[in-house]
This record gives sequence, C-alpha cells and structure tokens, in this order.
Amino acid sequence: MSQTTRGEAAIASRDDTLAHTLTHLEQYAVEDATLTSAREAGQRAESSPVSASGGAALRFLAASIGARSVVEVGTGCGSSGIWLLRGMREDSVLTSVDIEPEYQELARAAYRRAGFAAGRVRLILGRGLHVLPRLTDGAYDMVFVDAEQAAYPAYLTEALRLLRNGGIVVFNNALEAATSPDGPLSAPDPGTAAVREVARSVRDDEELIPLLLPIGEGLLAAIREEPRTGG
Ligand SMILES: C[S@@+](CC[C@H](N)C(=O)[O-])C[C@H]1O[C@@H](n2cnc3c(N)ncnc32)[C@H](O)[C@@H]1O
Repeated sequence: MSQTTRGEAAIASRDDTLAHTLTHLEQYAVEDATLTSAREAGQRAESSPVSASGGAALRFLAASIGARSVVEVGTGCGSSGIWLLRGMREDSVLTSVDIEPEYQELARAAYRRAGFAAGRVRLILGRGLHVLPRLTDGAYDMVFVDAEQAAYPAYLTEALRLLRNGGIVVFNNALEAATSPDGPLSAPDPGTAAVREVARSVRDDEELIPLLLPIGEGLLAAIREEPRTGG
C-alpha cells in the first residue's frame, strides 16, 4: 500500500471528528496553576498565549535535546517561556524578544512566580529581525518563533544561522499554511503566504528534518541535521 493510501486509510478508519481530537489533545496537556494564571493574564492582555498542548510540545522538544540555550521571538506574557524553561536544563538560559515592554514586564513576573531565577531569562526589547542578527552563530539549541508571521522566511534564515547542529527551529501558527477544502477564494494574506513558504522551505531542505504538528495553533518544527559522515 502506498504511503498516501495508508495515511488516507488510517484517517478513514477513525470515527472521531477533528474537533473531538483537538479537544482531547488540549485536555491531555496538564497546566498547573502558574501556567493557567500566565495564560489567563496573556488572554486578558490579548497577547495570544500558546495553548496548553502547544506549550507541552515546546517543553517536550526542549527536553528531548537537553536545551541549554533557547531563543524565543514573541515573549508575550510568558506562557511559552515557562513551558520552554520547564523543558530546558537547570543551568540553561532563555533569550526572549518582544516589542511590547508591558508584555515583557508581565512575563518577568510570571517567570518569577513559576520559580525561575532572574538569571535564567534574558529579556530583550526590540523587533526580532533587529535582535537576532546580533546573537552568536551556532550558539543555540532551539529557536521558537511566535511573532510577525509575514517575516517567517527571514526568521528561518536567522534561526538556521543561530542553531548548532542537531538544534531545532519551531514556528507557531503553522496551521495557517493549510489550504481551505473549498479551494482558494482569494489570494492568501501576507502572513499566511509566508507561513506556507516556510513550510515548503523546511520540507524541501535536505539539511533539515521537518515535522508539522496539528497541535494548538499548529507547530512546524525542523531539526538542523548533523552532517552525515557516511553510509
Ligand atoms: C502570539 S504573541 C506571543 C505569545 C507568547 N509566545 C506566549 O505564549 O505567551 C506574539 C508576540 O509577538 C510580539 N511581537 C510582534 N511583532 C514582533 C516583532 N517584530 N518582534 C518581536 N516581537 C514581536 C507581540 O508583542 C506579542 O507579544
């Protein structure tokens, strides 16, 4: 059976609805009181915090590579940062960039409430594409982009420069790349077009191992592969 036919058969054999599955995923991820309070503060401030399932995936990815050094674009009010820090090693540092000082102040308070020492987070105020070029090449284990969708292709270029071999880049809102089942009614907006472009670039780059997860807002992840020495 071909790859596509097997995938289609697996989907057809399921009797659940997509909404049911996504609800189950969201409920499976456990948020404690600290995370709930950070997410609710973010929702009140309209900073679009990551969902619990998206946060759990970030924590998992950071832990899977023993991340010591992570860059985040889009601090918001701190939800994704807490999930990332909970996956990172104890001696690690999260560098997080945002253009809104009020959000970063709320995030700083949320990290403190979550029990992280001030030295574990380096908050930088500024636009991601102005800040990332100043960070050191190959010095980061993970880059998480959760801001400025229209600039995702430029963030991919920056992330690949910042990541060590074996490091992971993750883009949020990847479900924006999905096409409507009714077909395109109009040209995609620049943000959606950019998400689609990055999804294609990541899939087609032979030096990346891509993964698209329909979790939360959709996560597009890729490992920057170690060069292979043979076989
Ligand atoms: C979706 S929210 C991030 C939510 C956050 N990751 C969380 O889970 O709480 C996007 C954030 O990106 C910030 N932002 C928007 N444009 C930006 C840019 N060009 N550079 C850095 N941050 C930006 C916004 O101020 C906002 O806080």
